[in-house]
Amino acid sequence: MAAPAWWQRGAVYQIYPRSFADGDGDGVGDLAGIRGHLDHLSDLHVEAVWLSPVFPSPMADFGYDVADFCDIDPLFGTLEDLDRLVQDCHDRGIKVVLDWVPNHTSDQHPWFRASRSSRDDPRRNWYVWRDGAPDGGPPNDWRSEFAAVGPAWTFDDGSGQWYLHSYTPQQPDLNWEEPAVEAAMHDVVRFWLGRGVDGLRIDALQRLAKDPLLRSNAGAARRHDQDWPTAHERLRGIRRVVDEFPDRMIVGEVYLLDLDRVVGYLAGGDQLHLAHNFVFLHLPWDADAFRSVIDRFEALTGGEALTGGEAWPAWFLGNHDHSRIATRYDDGGHGPARARAVALMLTALRGTPFVYQGDELGLPDAVIPPDRVVDVDGRDPERAPIPWEPPSVAGPGAGFTTGEPWLPLVADAERLCVRRQAADPDSTLSLVRRLAELRARSRTLQTGRQETVDAGPGVLAWWREHDGERLLAAVNFAPGPTGLAVLSAPAARWELLVSTDPGRADPPDHGAQRDLGRVRLGPSEAVLLRVHGD
Ligand code: NOJ
Repeated sequence: MAAPAWWQRGAVYQIYPRSFADGDGDGVGDLAGIRGHLDHLSDLHVEAVWLSPVFPSPMADFGYDVADFCDIDPLFGTLEDLDRLVQDCHDRGIKVVLDWVPNHTSDQHPWFRASRSSRDDPRRNWYVWRDGAPDGGPPNDWRSEFAAVGPAWTFDDGSGQWYLHSYTPQQPDLNWEEPAVEAAMHDVVRFWLGRGVDGLRIDALQRLAKDPLLRSNAGAARRHDQDWPTAHERLRGIRRVVDEFPDRMIVGEVYLLDLDRVVGYLAGGDQLHLAHNFVFLHLPWDADAFRSVIDRFEALTGGEALTGGEAWPAWFLGNHDHSRIATRYDDGGHGPARARAVALMLTALRGTPFVYQGDELGLPDAVIPPDRVVDVDGRDPERAPIPWEPPSVAGPGAGFTTGEPWLPLVADAERLCVRRQAADPDSTLSLVRRLAELRARSRTLQTGRQETVDAGPGVLAWWREHDGERLLAAVNFAPGPTGLAVLSAPAARWELLVSTDPGRADPPDHGAQRDLGRVRLGPSEAVLLRVHGD
């Protein structure tokens, strides 16, 4: 098999720039802050960073409302700062992926200002404008993704029509039925890839194609406001532009809770390289549930470790839109251990892991007092700034900022901060670094064959194999200890490569040779074993 592509080898690390590191003391993270913390990324052996949007924006959706696709918001720095960041990352062998938001713009984007200025403006058709329903209400029943917003339509007094917005009213949807829109957005792709950026994360890809007749959803067999069949041709057009540049990658946010449809955006070798799989993110903490999604993905895509035309998996359990892993799966105090188990699982599964900043620290959600809430959709807790230093030493900004942080930090920044965890070999950060290093050195973990295996109730286990090496990964989803019942290989000998339980009794002495049938797993523990013999 050919060597893996960069986007298959190791993790893509998501930076939410507002909350990563603040270089100028205004309380909001920026590009200078990121450049000042590249050692952290190198220590995590990340293959790439994905930056959430850094483009000029009124920040109604904290950057996902873009007012100029080809510049940098002064809050974050300048275009030259971005160039420097890309250069510095490349010097360290780290790729840079930017967030491209093709479904909508800010209502302050010059295109929308022109479009709303009059029904006769040449840009009128760049957005979705319609007359109201006969009863005077919006043109159809489509709702904003954000429950607090309500209808996906806003009436524009000036031009007397409604415009569509799948998110906030400050984010009007572009009209991808209009060829000039498609061409203009293709030029945005060329702008960034031509500047040396290695890839793009495509925001809200499923929204790029809607029923052109704008029929209501109610009573219909399928939704009319997203995932319309034309999405795939549109995506192929984007991919053709991406393929004008060598060795680039596109990862799509395909927010559909249907694995077959998600895989539909990966198929054929002429669409996405990677897709965020939200079916996985929404799973309950249950071994069988995880196994069935992993198996189904393999079944849908052939399960071969191909770098060419076939679909390659990507796995993630956290981003800036969802409650953090340590909180979501806490269930009465199990969160920290489960966050560690997740780190091992993402490292050892066949596919590209996506790690959201702070998950390498096992951060929980922050508590946001009502007077500090800023997001329309309740996503502030998972966007709390990264604690770099103990507040007792660095002050209340915890090394994130010397100013007033735009969101409160997590409660236990003193214990969870990077400085403290880096000094503790048993910390989550030390574990994540060890796992990443292991994967960076292991072709078996990168692209080896994979097969899940029965391992007893509450246990998810899977083999990875390459070139005669056999690894067994296992996660104990149960809250109590259990045995690893891998019946197919009771007599095999094993060595423990890594355990997520710092209190595990048997030391990870690589020379040890023991009976696989006798492996015990602690509560919420995950292990990676190298197995010899059958
Ligand atoms: C998905 C992004 O991840 C989210 O943060 C944003 O609000 C919506 N798309 C709209 O751009």
